Amino acid sequence: MERLYNDFFGCFGGKYVAEILRTPLDELKHEWLEAMKSKDFKGELDILLTEFAGRPTPLMYAENATKAAGGAKIYIKLEGLANTGAHKINNVLGQALLAKRMGKSRIIAETGAGQHGFATAAVCAKLGLECRVYMGEIDIKRQRPNVFWMELFGAEVEPVRGGAGTLKDAVNEALRDWSSSFETTHYLLGSALGPSPYPDMVREFQSVVGREVECEIKRRDLKVEALIACVGGGSNAIGFFYPFLNKKAPRLIGVEAGGTGNDPGEHASRMSGEGRPGIVHGYKSLFLLDDDGQVGSTHSISAGLDYPGIGPQLAYLGQTKRIEFTKISDSEALDAVQLFSKKEGIIFALESAHAGAEAIKFAESLSPEKSIIVNMSGRGDKDLFILAGILDKNRWYSFLEEEVKGNAG
Ligand SMILES: Cc1ncc(COP(=O)(O)O)c(C=O)c1O
Repeated sequence: MERLYNDFFGCFGGKYVAEILRTPLDELKHEWLEAMKSKDFKGELDILLTEFAGRPTPLMYAENATKAAGGAKIYIKLEGLANTGAHKINNVLGQALLAKRMGKSRIIAETGAGQHGFATAAVCAKLGLECRVYMGEIDIKRQRPNVFWMELFGAEVEPVRGGAGTLKDAVNEALRDWSSSFETTHYLLGSALGPSPYPDMVREFQSVVGREVECEIKRRDLKVEALIACVGGGSNAIGFFYPFLNKKAPRLIGVEAGGTGNDPGEHASRMSGEGRPGIVHGYKSLFLLDDDGQVGSTHSISAGLDYPGIGPQLAYLGQTKRIEFTKISDSEALDAVQLFSKKEGIIFALESAHAGAEAIKFAESLSPEKSIIVNMSGRGDKDLFILAGILDKNRWYSFLEEEVKGNAG
């Protein structure tokens, strides 16, 4: 599994697309593999990762959260401190540089929580590329701050009204755009999914997270029992886990959205046994499907974890049991945001808080000489309206009403 390009992971992966998209996907694979051999490309990417994204991100010992859990030491990889607030920037920088190298002047992207769109818009501003981001209208409502930032960077945010108005619908629209625009346009896909070569390419650009963690483990001589990451499409998890996949330890734990219950439409938990093999968005993997085999509805408090499918490499590694999967409910994720805010002074994004909640539970079950590392894939600034609307409802809504009245007057 150490090869750069795999295409298939067991029976998952592949490139199941309309004929028209085979040409740009073949071109992308060729250009990406060439770029990965180029010292200039890698050098330029390293400079941007350092100077623009702010890498390496810190690995922080969470002493107070450790005491609160009362077990293993909890370390947090602070991806949320990267420019634009999440791990998404790592993949965006890689793909945007590649697009420039391929002579493309326009970038399109899909976004759910808005973090991938935010990072794409920022990098396009930096590299002088035209940018259009497709975003479901439900996600536009719940992640409004990120829409504002994307537009400030000069991107066009295109609302997607079809379907459920969430991430899967945004992917459909982006693929539709790309079928007629690929001569000038690169589709900058934001997770480790989609038709080949995206799962391999996105993992590769995200593996910087795991490589930095591996160095820190060695430098500090940590005895790490487990790495824990949330899983939407799977890009932060696979990037974080990647250097450890061929080792027996540490345990690798992926955390899915348990939402509000176990019935269809109440969660987005694909690896808990609910996911069934299917082909959606150009790749084969495990998906939440209804009785007719159509893509089923999902729910999560976090816009980044309600995607109905999972990246093919993670689906495979779940089946082979190298990665264990678990789920965390909406309310447990909310509790984790509050715990890490009060104890550690850091605000987990709601997506990452699923991993944070699992880390607390898991640490409790271990002895103090052991360590675990949780990936805080993003920070929670974008969730202000959701969090304040739940945790401080009356004061927050009267503040908003007064603001609106004041501005209308
Ligand atoms: C902060 C954050 N974490 C995690 C995710 C889930 O994506 P992935 O599973 O590709 O890391 C998202 C998606 O938007 C996100 O914004």
